[in-house]
Amino acid sequence: MDDQTSVILSRYPRGHRDCLIPILQDIQEEYGYLSESSVIEVGRYLGLPSSKIFGLATFYNQFRFEPRGRFHVRLCHGTSCHVTAASEIIKDLEKKLRIHPGETTRDGMFSLELVACMGACHLAPLIRVNDNYHTKLEPGSINDIIDSYIEGEE
Ligand code: FES
Repeated sequence: MDDQTSVILSRYPRGHRDCLIPILQDIQEEYGYLSESSVIEVGRYLGLPSSKIFGLATFYNQFRFEPRGRFHVRLCHGTSCHVTAASEIIKDLEKKLRIHPGETTRDGMFSLELVACMGACHLAPLIRVNDNYHTKLEPGSINDIIDSYIEGEE
């Protein structure tokens, strides 16, 4: 077990299964995702089979099981964004990146996440790529945005 996982687990009483979700949230906050080894460690700590933890974590779609890409794309699907074409934007992102929310591209460059309201509804629909916001998106604008990150890497 790495040090940081030990520190996280030590904040919670051993064997208390009702601490599962907060522990997983802390680990994801620290590492950006839940690795297989971290799930196994949590299972040992709480006395739960890792299959059960995976099952539960999958049910809550806040958890990721793959590391984030170098560019982590968050798409807001809050109400304001939703009514202003966020569903079109997500289709464009999935098509361009060839991944679904919660996944990372094979080359590790992009990962995709659906998030709740980012507090900028007047700029809807929007995505955030690492710390950069792209706002008032229109269907079809995703290609150029993603390409600009790819070109920036070359
Ligand atoms: S709903 Fe998307 S920023 Fe508020």
